[in-house]
Amino acid sequence: MRPRPSRTLAFKVVVVLLAGLMFYMGYYLGNVYQRDKLEGLSATVLPEPWTLEPFELVDHRGEPFTGENLKGQWDFVFFGFTHCPDVCPMSMTLLAQAYNRLAERPELQRRTRAVFVSVDPERDTPEKLRDFVGYFNPEFVGVTGSAEEIKRVADQLHIYYQIHEPVDGSGDYAVDHSAAILLVDPEGRMIALFTGASDPTVLAGDFMKIADVLGS
Ligand code: NI
Repeated sequence: MRPRPSRTLAFKVVVVLLAGLMFYMGYYLGNVYQRDKLEGLSATVLPEPWTLEPFELVDHRGEPFTGENLKGQWDFVFFGFTHCPDVCPMSMTLLAQAYNRLAERPELQRRTRAVFVSVDPERDTPEKLRDFVGYFNPEFVGVTGSAEEIKRVADQLHIYYQIHEPVDGSGDYAVDHSAAILLVDPEGRMIALFTGASDPTVLAGDFMKIADVLGS
C-alpha cells in the first residue's frame, strides 16, 4: 500500500530537519575541535574578537592611521616609546625575529606586520618613529598622534602607561608601559594577546595556529 501523500511529505520534512541538525552538529563540533588546537598556547586568545572604536592617529610617514589601517592583514600591536632603554627594543627585536620565522609560510608572512604605537608623542615624531621602526623591519609601522587619541586607543585595549615628570635639568623623563603584545586580525579586531613572550619561535608558532584556526 502506498503511503498517503501527507505522510510522505512529513517524512521528507523530518529527513530535511535531521540533515540540517546533523550539519549544524558537525559544524559546531568542528569549531570546538578547532578551538581545542588553541589549548596550551602561550597566547591568551579572547573568547570573542574585540572590535575597536574608531580612532585617528598618524603613521611614520605622516599619513593618517585609523582602524581601517588595521584591516587586511594580521597586526602585532605594541605600545611603547623610542627612548625606551630596554623593553621596547627587546620587544621589537622579538617581533622582527618572529616575523622572520614566518618565512616558512610566505603567504601568511606577506599578510603580517607589527605596529608600534608610541605613548610618548611629545618626543616620538613620525620621523623619529620611521628611524626606530625601520631599524627592526622596513615592513613594520610606527604610529603616533595626539596624547588624547593615543590614550583613548590604549584605554580601549587595556594598555597601561604612565609618563613621569623629568627628574633633573636634562628634561629627560621616564615612561612606564605595558609590555603586552596584542594580535589584531585582518578584520581589525583584537583577537589575542601575548604577555611575557620572549621566544620568537614560540611567538611565531602560536600565531600560525591562531591564524589557521581563527583566520578567515
Ligand atoms: Ni619600552
